[in-house]
Amino acid sequence: MLEEEYDKDRRVLPARLRKKPAPELPFSYEIRPIVKADLPYVREIYNYYVTNSVVTFDEKKWTLAQWREKLEYLRKLDMPFLVAQSPSGQILGYALVQPMSSKSAYRYSVENSIYLGQAAAGKGLGRALLEALIDACEDSGIRQMVAIVSDRGADASVALHEKLGFVEVGRMGRVGRKFGRWLGTIYLQKSLKSKKRSRRRK
Ligand SMILES: CC(C)(COP(=O)(O)OP(=O)(O)OC[C@H]1O[C@@H](n2cnc3c(N)ncnc32)[C@H](O)[C@@H]1OP(=O)(O)O)[C@@H](O)C(=O)NCCC(=O)NCCS
Repeated sequence: MLEEEYDKDRRVLPARLRKKPAPELPFSYEIRPIVKADLPYVREIYNYYVTNSVVTFDEKKWTLAQWREKLEYLRKLDMPFLVAQSPSGQILGYALVQPMSSKSAYRYSVENSIYLGQAAAGKGLGRALLEALIDACEDSGIRQMVAIVSDRGADASVALHEKLGFVEVGRMGRVGRKFGRWLGTIYLQKSLKSKKRSRRRK
């Protein structure tokens, strides 16, 4: 049989008998404070960007022990550290703040850090996580939040911060070197709302 004749004869099932594709589930998540059991997922998310991008200036993967130590340290300082979890229990991303400096007069000011698993990016989760982080920081009496963003490959981060009211306050050129390239940093700052009862030590 010729190919054209074969095509004409091919049977096609009527629509009502064809198998329907599974409906796409809506992208949903819960944002909550981190627990220790989330740290392996956080490590995996962060290490992807350490190895494959210049959005972080870290060049060596972080170990679980380093993440445990960081969590303890941030808890002692009452610094928010949040994760987003899917209905099936997968950690989709995280956001945290850490002191801007170890010098005590900086105690109302923090630097933030936000990373999503690749599959979770570009769907509004970054905005939701950063909004939740800002809220938690305001509850905790923190007054200034700064984002230090790489000047290459971090367009989504700059866009996200600017959408949430962060303002660019400066840049530094050629302060980092990764994958054989010089990299600069963009500084974005946001003043946070003062809530009535600050829990932060004077
Ligand atoms: C940066 C990151 C957290 C942003 O989260 P996201 O979920 O991808 O961003 P969202 O979908 O919430 O987008 C937030 C806003 O920024 C805009 N935006 C996102 N990516 C953009 C891009 N590449 N260019 C322009 N605008 C962009 C969106 O349109 C959205 O605006 P809207 O809320 O008014 O609609 C996420 O992409 C990520 O984890 N990237 C890799 C790690 C990283 O760079 N971390 C930051 C290190 S400083």
